[in-house]
Amino acid sequence: MSQITFALAKGRLGKKTMEILEKMNIRAVDMTDDSRKLVFYSEDKKYRFFLSKPSDVPTYVEHGVADIGIVGKDTILEENRDIYECLDLNIGKCRMCVCAYPEKRDLILNNESIRIATKYPNIALKHFRGKNKKVEIIKLNGSVELGPIIGLADAIVDIVESGKTLAENGLVVINDVVSDISARVIVNKASMKLKHQDIGKIIEEMERLI
Ligand code: PRP
Repeated sequence: MSQITFALAKGRLGKKTMEILEKMNIRAVDMTDDSRKLVFYSEDKKYRFFLSKPSDVPTYVEHGVADIGIVGKDTILEENRDIYECLDLNIGKCRMCVCAYPEKRDLILNNESIRIATKYPNIALKHFRGKNKKVEIIKLNGSVELGPIIGLADAIVDIVESGKTLAENGLVVINDVVSDISARVIVNKASMKLKHQDIGKIIEEMERLI
């Protein structure tokens, strides 16, 4: 068996992914919560694991430095990389929505020109272009809800999981952009050909566990 490299998203999703892999007896040595290491191996060196920013996972997989990546559908749509999306893990479920203060609803739905703050400029642009709206997209890297609160934007395009962040900041969902976001298994196209048996087995096993 040739070595298989996984690119995993740092944080909550990465942790959940490792739990699934451990059930398949795929374990990383030394991967602890407080470790600052970024690359790990299984004891027998059959598997290698990178921990990266979620938005970099599709990049590593497209370039073939990782054979398999596990990352949210939101990131896959935003990055739009040349990779195979093979399996829905049904974890990290959320939706992507246009959100704003309730009193801005009419402006957002009816006005031609609005300002949107988002971590997902490509998804947001595609959504509003599809509705023939001109939008000014302001890219933020986190705490996007601040956009409308401090008057930087009329609305945001962001993921909503429990709805707590919106509720605590007086914001509401105006409409859905993508409703079925969850963690997906992505695979490098060349790896799928060259390591077909090993990758196929891993995906089958994951499918059995979910
Ligand atoms: C995400 C998202 C929302 C929040 C939604 O942010 O951007 O802010 O979670 O979750 P909820 O509906 O359960 O409240 P994240 O926690 O990833 O942090 P960030 O804003 O710094 O990106």
